[in-house]
Amino acid sequence: MTQVTLLPHPEICPSGLVFEARPGRVLCDELMAAGVEIEHACDGVCACSTCHVIIREGFFALPIAAEDEEDQLDEAWGVTPNSRLACQVKVGQTPLVVELPRYSLNHAREHE
Ligand code: FES
Repeated sequence: MTQVTLLPHPEICPSGLVFEARPGRVLCDELMAAGVEIEHACDGVCACSTCHVIIREGFFALPIAAEDEEDQLDEAWGVTPNSRLACQVKVGQTPLVVELPRYSLNHAREHE
């Protein structure tokens, strides 16, 4: 198991969270399994940017983002050099420190 530390987010996880994630599993799924209500508007098919996370520690241990992930990240709010889409990141052996951005852009919801 790999330790994931989620930094506090005022609405989604006010106290932060530390949990054990299963290596080889998708970070978004592991966050949800730990009870974190991360947005995932496209259900993990890399067609939105609502699952945007910032990897504060462990970023360089992750495989490099594919081009379609980079394209979606261009649409994300508050993107940083350490940004990833949680549905495209597989948990490895290296512990991660993850921050949820203050906002996410949910185009589907904005156009309701
Ligand atoms: S859930 Fe849409 S890109 Fe991750």
